[in-house]
Amino acid sequence: MTLKGKVAVVTGGNTGIGKAVVLELAKQGADVVIDYIVGEEAELDLESQLRALGDKVVGVKADVSNVGDLTTLVGTAVSRFGRLDIMVNNAGIETRTSVLDTTEEQYNKVLDINLKSAFFGTQLAAKQMIAQGGGGRIINMTSVHEDWPMPGNTAYCLSKGGMRMLTRTAGVELAPHNILVVGVGPGAVNTPINSATVADPKLLTKLDAAIPIGRLAQPEEIASLVAFLAGDGASYIAATTIFADGGIMQSSPGL
Ligand code: BGC
Repeated sequence: MTLKGKVAVVTGGNTGIGKAVVLELAKQGADVVIDYIVGEEAELDLESQLRALGDKVVGVKADVSNVGDLTTLVGTAVSRFGRLDIMVNNAGIETRTSVLDTTEEQYNKVLDINLKSAFFGTQLAAKQMIAQGGGGRIINMTSVHEDWPMPGNTAYCLSKGGMRMLTRTAGVELAPHNILVVGVGPGAVNTPINSATVADPKLLTKLDAAIPIGRLAQPEEIASLVAFLAGDGASYIAATTIFADGGIMQSSPGL
């Protein structure tokens, strides 16, 4: 229970990597606030899993691309649990559309949910952490694609590239307050975002073959890194991204 007494907000906390993060932080003793615009049912399911762990979780109906709703999320951490120690800007979507076929609506949605929410999540969390004193941790869920093109997923790559720079710049600005901003960069993970690939045996074989470890990650393998970064053992990591990608970025067919 290395996070006992800590309070966390996890955006996109009711599905995929976010859900695993919520469960891991709660297992480590943290109290957690999540948003649940994606599906109230998923959130209720998560809430019962968390209750079984004997911990406290609060679900707030919030659209993380709206700064007012993000303010409510952070405010709920403070009103229910008294403080905020860990902000996980995790919510993310992708459209799998290229530079030629991405619409304005798709572009805005991806950038708002992925990047705008991380920016204002960082700002609001940092203000609260500075007001309460003692520092904190802000963890941005980026991707190998923060710095590695994924053709046919352009807006997503743009948003993750923005999160890379947010992590570095806010990380430098906030480190003097002992607020450590760190990115987590997963490769391919077995979550709903990859369900089309996982459902197609040919695509899945191709993807697995590109990963030196030979398989997709399970969400829990990313959540354990987030819990580490939220804890005392990660007291000297700031303004950078830690990758958990099974080696995918270094792999080469050797041709
Ligand atoms: C994307 C996935 C992709 C994976 C590896 C992730 O960030 O969301 O669609 O499979 O990176 O390329």
